[in-house]
Amino acid sequence: MRAIVVRPPAPGASLRDLPVPPLAPGAVRVRVLEVGVCGTDHDIVTGKYGRAPDGEDYLILGHENLGEVVDTSAGASGFSPGDLVVATVRRGCGRCRFCLANRSDFCETGGFTERGINGAHGYMADEYVEIPEYLVKVPAGLRGIAVLLEPLSVVEKAIAMGQRVLDRKEPTPGFPPTRAPTALVAGTGAIGMLAAFVLRNRGYEVTAVDRHNGTPAEALLARIGARHANVAGGLSALGPDRFDLVIEGSGSALLNFGLVDILAPNGTLVLTGIPDVNAPPTSVMGGALFRGIVLQNHAVVGSVNANRTYFETGLADLGAFEARWPGAVEQMISTRRPLEDYSDVLMGRIGGTIKAVLTISGGASSR
Ligand code: BGC
Repeated sequence: MRAIVVRPPAPGASLRDLPVPPLAPGAVRVRVLEVGVCGTDHDIVTGKYGRAPDGEDYLILGHENLGEVVDTSAGASGFSPGDLVVATVRRGCGRCRFCLANRSDFCETGGFTERGINGAHGYMADEYVEIPEYLVKVPAGLRGIAVLLEPLSVVEKAIAMGQRVLDRKEPTPGFPPTRAPTALVAGTGAIGMLAAFVLRNRGYEVTAVDRHNGTPAEALLARIGARHANVAGGLSALGPDRFDLVIEGSGSALLNFGLVDILAPNGTLVLTGIPDVNAPPTSVMGGALFRGIVLQNHAVVGSVNANRTYFETGLADLGAFEARWPGAVEQMISTRRPLEDYSDVLMGRIGGTIKAVLTISGGASSR
């Protein structure tokens, strides 16, 4: 089968012909339809992140996936050929209490693997094999957008974490809310745009920021009733506005300091971007930073990965978005390219602004 392989930490990626993985007892064989490309893939291809499986010198790339079941072994119940599936990414360490409770996104030992990222082969290949526990069945009606479910799962977890912290205030009896909660989304890549969709759908007033004007992201934000602001000249472009919830997806350590400053009293900043460990040092007024955090009940929360629960919430939300804004989610897919174009897509030479998808089998979408 064809597969895109990398050799972390060496930069680069190549198309290889590899043996089809054997169908283990209790497992399901999946033909990959589409794989999304994100900043993590770019970091792996440029030698900044990622790890091959133990004892192997290469890693099959790809973690944002959509596939179709083609074969099931005896003991793999609940799946039939033709079912559409999205596979989760992280596989638990098998030892800590979180991994043993199917919540490997909170693994305590660091002994987890992540398919296509850290220590386990991914989905940028014609086929993969997986057990039902890690496969989420997708309704046929979501065929055109389900490749976004994995990044959406990451967003669902991040927002759930932020909401938990916001909810620590608890409603005051007898005092109904006087205004809608406000959210700022930093970045209009797929993570930021998906966060804007989730938060709009939950009744937040949403502002999304990036450093451009006139982009497809800006038009899409208008469609869902979110505000767009160009902050190329700094966050001061936001004026006096402050936000209850800020979701960050850019991985810029420098930007993160600025985001603390735009939190409303009692506000929460959730960080999902993974900064470069070699980013140059930054000098901050630590006293002012922590003083503000304490005196305004601020919280800064990190959030990584997502367990199956958030894939399921994401699936329900994809259906809700389609009902409320028909066709809008698919506009996040800026381009679909054949697998052979992997190099240009991974390096960002083609792909557009929101989400680039590699089509591996079966054509582009439901239509
Ligand atoms: C993936 C997550 C993963 C994280 C860190 C993200 O791009 O979507 O599943 O946990 O990278 O490796």
